[in-house]
Amino acid sequence: MRLIRNALVQCLAVLLLALAVLLAVRPPIPASLLTFYLAVIGVGLGVYITATTERMESFWRPLHALLILDRLRPARWGVLLALPVLAAGQTAWSLLPTRQAPATLRVIHPAPPTQIRFEGRSINLREARNPLRAAKASEPRAFAAHVETGRRVYYQNCFQCHGDNLAGDGPFAHAFNPRPANFQDLGTIAQLQESYLFWRIAKGGPGLPPESAPGRSAMPRWEGRLSEEEIWAVILFLYEMTGHPPRTWD
Ligand code: HEC
Repeated sequence: MRLIRNALVQCLAVLLLALAVLLAVRPPIPASLLTFYLAVIGVGLGVYITATTERMESFWRPLHALLILDRLRPARWGVLLALPVLAAGQTAWSLLPTRQAPATLRVIHPAPPTQIRFEGRSINLREARNPLRAAKASEPRAFAAHVETGRRVYYQNCFQCHGDNLAGDGPFAHAFNPRPANFQDLGTIAQLQESYLFWRIAKGGPGLPPESAPGRSAMPRWEGRLSEEEIWAVILFLYEMTGHPPRTWD
């Protein structure tokens, strides 16, 4: 009975009860929130204890006794040794490796390889030009037909992610992180060469180098599903639809 009336015992009981309730909440609350709730409860207990002199004295009495009474000497040593051990344990615990993915930044536009193999043939990405683009000046009708092919390829394969209007907001787009590229945005195809797009479309997410976290990109690889000509055609379509000129070296 005397034990229950002691303020220190009351405080410890309230804290342990609060901790048990908070840990039982489902789904589990984040550790930062848990610390915050316990801190608020701690402040409340502090107000409760310091409200009257009797409670203050009752709170300190066991601590005082522990520090000076001769018969509590073993307990005193126990507590004094346990404190650094707990601190060391906590430090070691916090240094353990976790299974969480490291918070590295994903490189959105990594340097492309100089050479890729497409359907067994090797293509030099530095030199590759879109073979269908030449028709733009010389044969406008043939060019329009290539853009039409690109449109068909796009609406059969790409709009689900990249959107009806090429703005990266297709019906599936919300399911992916990173989001499908928004081709209207100046940060994507407007700053890229056509051969870069060829590489990205042919090899997709799996073809990205490690710094671009290949496993996280949902961009499929189209080699084997689209022909070389279809890929160049869909590239024409992307630039014609958005009105961006492709980047060139000259
Ligand atoms: C399943 C969803 C999905 C489909 C279908 C899809 N893409 Fe993507 N695409 C993505 C995602 C996600 C990214 C962004 C991540 C990345 O760069 O790999 C992306 C990136 C790209 C990029 C790179 C843009 C840049 O700025 O680097 C190009 C080009 C591209 N897609 C073209 C296409 C074309 C063309 C098709 C159709 C033949 C297509 N995508 C179909 C999801 C998709």
